Amino acid sequence: MAQQADITTMRRAVELAARGLGATSPNPVVGCVITDASGHVVGEGFHQRAGGPHAEVHALREAGVLARGGTAYVTLEPCNHTGRTGPCAQALIEAGVSRVVYAVGDPNPQATGGADTLRAAGAEVEQGLLEAEAEAGNIAWLTSVRHGRPFVRWKYAATLDGRIAAADGTSRWITSAESRTDVHRLRAEADAVVVGSGTARADDPHLAVRGVEGAVQPLRVVVDTEATAVKPGARVLDDAAPTLIAIAEDAGTSPDGAESVRLPRAERGLSVPALLDALHARGVRSVLLEGGPTLAGAFVAAGAVDQVVGYLAPVLLGAGPNALADAGISTITEALRLDVTETVRVGPDLRITATLKGA
Ligand SMILES: NC(=O)c1ccc[n+]([C@@H]2O[C@H](COP(=O)([O-])OP(=O)(O)OC[C@H]3O[C@@H](n4cnc5c(N)ncnc54)[C@H](OP(=O)(O)O)[C@@H]3O)[C@@H](O)[C@H]2O)c1
Repeated sequence: MAQQADITTMRRAVELAARGLGATSPNPVVGCVITDASGHVVGEGFHQRAGGPHAEVHALREAGVLARGGTAYVTLEPCNHTGRTGPCAQALIEAGVSRVVYAVGDPNPQATGGADTLRAAGAEVEQGLLEAEAEAGNIAWLTSVRHGRPFVRWKYAATLDGRIAAADGTSRWITSAESRTDVHRLRAEADAVVVGSGTARADDPHLAVRGVEGAVQPLRVVVDTEATAVKPGARVLDDAAPTLIAIAEDAGTSPDGAESVRLPRAERGLSVPALLDALHARGVRSVLLEGGPTLAGAFVAAGAVDQVVGYLAPVLLGAGPNALADAGISTITEALRLDVTETVRVGPDLRITATLKGA
């Protein structure tokens, strides 16, 4: 049985890890707390950006000599390899830490083995404390390592009767200002924000993060098969964030102000797996898919949605497009069943987060 003090300290490490969301890719988010030999917290740290020091290094620097004989609580198994920074397992050994508690084993074949190195050096090593919480906090990176593609969170804003726009195509604003502010937080946590050409045409969205202090801007991606939806002057072409336009191999050229990537066609539009491969190759580990319903249907059909975040507004429209268009499901036995992981009131709206069963 874990001691309450161990749980409290690891929970703090999980909180610290979350501060790096959106800024560490292609690396994971990691938090670390170091206690001295009598159990007092003497160092804290989190991985702040790719290429920067790992969480353990920040925490060890803060702890200094007080780390000797103490315990390190880390949300992810300390790494064992020298990348842009040295191996953390070795840094913990050199600092004289005598016990290391980590939540999640490192699935990355290049980095794994830190626990063995620590044990071989005589440290007491324990794994699994608050594993589910730490795993949930690092789900984007873990999904990308396990599946070799970015984690995809599909977000939509709908009326209580499931419409994401009115019959005439107008959709501003279905949800409240509070919900729209909340979406900026989701964008800040993502490496890329993706929309289809239909949304680009209808809404001319900006897709950058506003109002989140210290946010790293995500890559704005428009899936525009024929290179016709994003026109000169479009809001995604400003310099608020980088922009990538995904177009077909045989399409024309996209406008100045954005990079483009040419991808193979699918039965409709572009190949979703090819798009995700291209994004992964650029270091994108998490995608916020902001619709619209047609592109979201293609992602669901491709088995490429890991999490759904729906903002439901107490509004009725009665007509207009549904949140999700054809996803290749034609009978109830094929319906995708989800687990609701969170429900939160956001202003007058309800935010529901759900993951695909077995995801
Ligand atoms: N409330 C919300 O949360 C929300 C969010 C977003 C949008 N909207 C609303 O949704 C409406 C637009 O929705 P939409 O469904 O027309 O647009 P969409 O999903 O943004 O874009 C659909 C288009 O994407 C392109 N595409 C590229 N690859 C594809 C693939 N593999 N599968 C399917 N499509 C692919 C296709 O056009 P090409 O192949 O010709 O490029 C397709 O017509 C607007 O009214 C907008 O306001 C609402």
